[in-house]
Amino acid sequence: MTDKNKTATLHMDGKTVELPILSPTVGPDVLDVRKLYAEGGVFTYDPGYTSTASCDSTITFIDGDKGELLHRGYPIDQLAEKSHYLEVCYLLLYGELPTAVELEDFETRIIRHTMLHEQMQYFFRGFRRDAHPMAIMVGVVGAMSAFYHDSTDIQDPWQREVASIRLIAKMPTIAAWAFKYHTGQPFVYPRNDLDYASNFLRMCFAVPAEEYEVNPILSRAMDRIFTLHADHEQNASTSTVRLASSSGANPFACIAAGIACLWGPAHGGANQACLEMLKEIGTPDRIPEFIARAKDKNDPFRLMGFGHRVYKNFDPRATVMKQSADEVLDLLGIEDNPVLQVAKELEKQALEDPYFADKKLFPNVDFYSGIILEAMGFPTSMFTPIFALSRTVGWVSQWKEQLADPQHKIGRPRQLYLGSARRDYMDIENR
Ligand code: SDX
Repeated sequence: MTDKNKTATLHMDGKTVELPILSPTVGPDVLDVRKLYAEGGVFTYDPGYTSTASCDSTITFIDGDKGELLHRGYPIDQLAEKSHYLEVCYLLLYGELPTAVELEDFETRIIRHTMLHEQMQYFFRGFRRDAHPMAIMVGVVGAMSAFYHDSTDIQDPWQREVASIRLIAKMPTIAAWAFKYHTGQPFVYPRNDLDYASNFLRMCFAVPAEEYEVNPILSRAMDRIFTLHADHEQNASTSTVRLASSSGANPFACIAAGIACLWGPAHGGANQACLEMLKEIGTPDRIPEFIARAKDKNDPFRLMGFGHRVYKNFDPRATVMKQSADEVLDLLGIEDNPVLQVAKELEKQALEDPYFADKKLFPNVDFYSGIILEAMGFPTSMFTPIFALSRTVGWVSQWKEQLADPQHKIGRPRQLYLGSARRDYMDIENR
């Protein structure tokens, strides 16, 4: 990783600091500033971390200019086309594509952990029926540390593995039960004879009054949505999980922190906000009005589902998602979905507008996902829980990677202090 011949020399206040330059497998070099404060007496300053590498990782790589996303080196479009979510989970967790035997063993381990401790249902029942499913997920996942004591010791590799399997296996059940509780319908238990996506759809949409047949078109689309959201380098929620884990917090608390961060509309909450925006636009003739608002500096409105910190060409996940939206709606016989028509026309007009082209704002993963999810029967409030379910494997893989690094230490950023210099207390009568 370190290229002995590459360094950067910093001259300031009469000091000279030699900083190593580290070279990656692919992507930009990094300037190793770990000794900058000790030798130079200064901090780096990078709010939002636009130019900061917080860690080294071997899991996912994004090339924002090329619109490329690799998971352990495999391009996302190939994985979306040829693989399936649990195989991608194995790849992210263990670094290589599994053999048939390894995959069967992994899928069996996941299947055998999909049920929740029976007592947990009473935790759900403490929420109001109109609680947002994300509020329930944050609470229930955090509470898992109160139910699964035998997988909270992060120093024990076996417990780390069990916690990883439990989180990936139980997240669909938790998300589905949050949905069922929200709708007032009874919880549906997972089944071991169904694949991961089919199990989730059945837990969401089955009712005791009749048999539920999973539509293979929908389960394939669901599985692809899970795959497209699985991991994405050091995004805000993954960085939250890493920072929480750096203090030694248990895995369930760390993933609950990631869910909380993902909820924000600038991050995972964008899929719900995007569909609500498309519905507010309603018809293609209103698109110019919204594009004008998005460009207006005095208007906080932004085109939800557009733009990305890293992708400055296109989001490869959006490309796959757009194809899936066409396929799913066509196969479901919803050819003239007005929301999809608005989305396609909005994308066309925005990409023709210099503002978006100049700022390199393109549809991201959230732009089309909501259209598919709504066509599948989900309310917008379930969009981000589905994102959280999908991203759990990414959070867990990055969490495991950080814990396995003997160099890792507690994350503790510094600051540029602009407050008052030292001053003495003033008695109230003198103020
Ligand atoms: C996800 O990081 C990840 O990997 C995230 C994610 C993942 O898989 O984990 O990919 C998932 O979170 C996707 C992003 C979902 N969010 C949205 O769709 C919300 C709308 N998008 C924006 O909020 C914004 O684009 C962000 C938050 C996604 C990125 O913001 P940045 O990189 O901090 O960029 P910025 O806010 O500094 O914007 C740069 C310029 C600004 O204009 P100027 O101040 O330079 O004049 O572009 C403008 C912004 O005003 N801009 C937009 C815009 N996004 C940015 N203007 C209108 N509409 C938008 N959507």
